[in-house]
Amino acid sequence: MDKPDPAAEIDTSRPAAARMYDYYLGGSHNFAADREAAAKVLEVMPDVPLMAQANRAFLHRSVRYLVDAGIRQFIDLGSGIPTAGNVHEATPESTVVYVDLDPVAVAYSESILSGVDRAGIVHADIRRPEEVLESPVTRGLLDFSRPIGVLMVAVLHFVSEDDDPAGVIGAFRSALPVGSALSMAHVTFDGRPAEMERLTAIYSKSANPTTFRTKARLEELMAPWELVDPGLTWVTEWRPDWPDAVEGDSAWCGNYGAVGRKR
Ligand SMILES: C[S@@+](CC[C@H](N)C(=O)[O-])C[C@H]1O[C@@H](n2cnc3c(N)ncnc32)[C@H](O)[C@@H]1O
Repeated sequence: MDKPDPAAEIDTSRPAAARMYDYYLGGSHNFAADREAAAKVLEVMPDVPLMAQANRAFLHRSVRYLVDAGIRQFIDLGSGIPTAGNVHEATPESTVVYVDLDPVAVAYSESILSGVDRAGIVHADIRRPEEVLESPVTRGLLDFSRPIGVLMVAVLHFVSEDDDPAGVIGAFRSALPVGSALSMAHVTFDGRPAEMERLTAIYSKSANPTTFRTKARLEELMAPWELVDPGLTWVTEWRPDWPDAVEGDSAWCGNYGAVGRKR
């Protein structure tokens, strides 16, 4: 065998973020340990499934925005277990490289992508950007002389400060031509700090501990990018589908989003 078999690495005894998220979204690619940890999260925040849906809706709106702006190639970092509206389905005109660390996410992505020639999956850790950028899948599918949309949706909060999130973003940015873009969504302590502290404690026992960040820190991390309107906002307030789609205080969604262009 010339490449590791992701399925051989699955540790079902320890909860994993990809499988917990799959559970929140009503999927079936999760194990007892994932469901137990997810149940603890739901005890603290029963609206986590709605938050996950708001995050997915941001992902879709931002991809649509970038397609309308002419981008036809995407790298979806921390793409997760395939669910309704995967990026290559949401944009049939585009080429998509999915990337995830979780062996279940990778194995299931491989199975749904077999026979799809404009999308592929890379089993890699985004904390080592070269694993993604130098992968033959990435190099075979993407043209680095044309703009690329990098999606870091609900994944950067799994990169700790010790793992240098600015360096991770910077490595992807450096590899991209001018006109490329970053779409980022990131869970925060702002708005619901006590509950988010308890979520941090639950995720600290999983394979993917979290580092939730403030708006100010996320603005710093996005500073090299030219943010498109409306800048960094709650994901529900980022270019909603219709003007009155957002009612009341959006802090419930616990998640900031932004799209920036490389100029
Ligand atoms: C909450 S899910 C988000 C899935 C999808 N991006 C979305 O927003 O719907 C986070 C995903 O990031 C993956 N992940 C976490 N840390 C990672 C890392 N260092 N490298 C690659 N993937 C990672 C997890 O395995 C999981 O599938």
